[in-house]
Amino acid sequence: MSAVALPPIPRVESPPGFSPAESGFAMHKEIHEQPLAARVVARHYGRDGGFDRLDALDLSRIRRVRLIGAGTSVYATRAAKRWFETVAGLPCEAEVASEYAGTAACGEASDELGVVVSQSGETTETVAAMVRLREAGIPTVAVVNAASSTIGREADVVLPTFAGPETGVCATKSFTAALQVLARFALHAARRRGADASQLAPHAEALDRIPEWIALALENEPAVLEVLPHFDRARSALIIARGALVPIAAEGALKLKEITYIHAEAMPAGELKHGPMALVDSDLPVVALAASGSDFGRLAANVRQAAARGGRIVVVGDRAAILGLSDCVTTALTLPRCPDFVLPIAATVPLQLLAHHLAVRRGVDVDRPRNLAKAVIDE
Ligand code: AGP
Repeated sequence: MSAVALPPIPRVESPPGFSPAESGFAMHKEIHEQPLAARVVARHYGRDGGFDRLDALDLSRIRRVRLIGAGTSVYATRAAKRWFETVAGLPCEAEVASEYAGTAACGEASDELGVVVSQSGETTETVAAMVRLREAGIPTVAVVNAASSTIGREADVVLPTFAGPETGVCATKSFTAALQVLARFALHAARRRGADASQLAPHAEALDRIPEWIALALENEPAVLEVLPHFDRARSALIIARGALVPIAAEGALKLKEITYIHAEAMPAGELKHGPMALVDSDLPVVALAASGSDFGRLAANVRQAAARGGRIVVVGDRAAILGLSDCVTTALTLPRCPDFVLPIAATVPLQLLAHHLAVRRGVDVDRPRNLAKAVIDE
């Protein structure tokens, strides 16, 4: 483990009556454990430490990465695809384990790397996908929270996410920890492939500050409570985003489905006008993940189109983005103004809080939602 000087984590106050201790839900506690979990990831993987176990795979010869997972872990692979492609220049496929495991081999090559993501390390379909990778002669790296699980044991290399036990059915801290390990893995691959160190340094510094940015994102809790009434008549919700935030929108929609039983659908914002706009009315919350970067203008245009049709617009964005949409926003949650590279990680947190508090308001046992199990293991 390398010694990295990390900035302090700001102390987060929950609103009176809404602290994790008072709520009694494991999910709530696990959401609040994320700054600490992030610090553990930074300690293990900071400044390239923890990745020496990948040396046996010789990353310089890899030409393509095949990322595989299920549920929340799929969305981690989709976020990782962007990191591997943009910083390491490695083309990626992000595959749903149940689809990949059941299809015939197609184009796999020995210069590929398989990256399997799983919280439990036991999901049957993900295990099956890993077996198929191995049969195709593709070396496998497991990014798992339960390092001694089947996937952790069977992979050629295991990169534990160190989030600690997660007992709520919803993946929360294990997701943000997996994102951080994957982002750091992409940086490591870029270094091994000869990328300019000075261009990677800002990304590494941004990752070291993730505990602080997650803590700032957690400060939204009082604001989240104010957003809840806007969902009272909702049977559906849309979550829109652009670019790197699209997988986070999908993860937010999964959280809403799992524990609030609201049907939620995520999409790239530009897709709204190609059909889903027909759903928009005054009962439909439209959650927009908005960053005030180069894509903001196009996202804002999509948000205004939904607002013009009566949609209740919930903006989850940095202050500048919220201000830029002040003409049409119903209510807002604030993201810290962190570098784009790490924004997907910070943007996850308000959506977790929203799903949690909405579920509690609807009387759902958030740790044991109906029809779901923590690990999906077929007999
Ligand atoms: C996440 O909130 C879900 N409970 C579920 O989608 C989960 O991510 C999926 O079953 C995959 O589990 P794994 O990461 O343990 O393989």
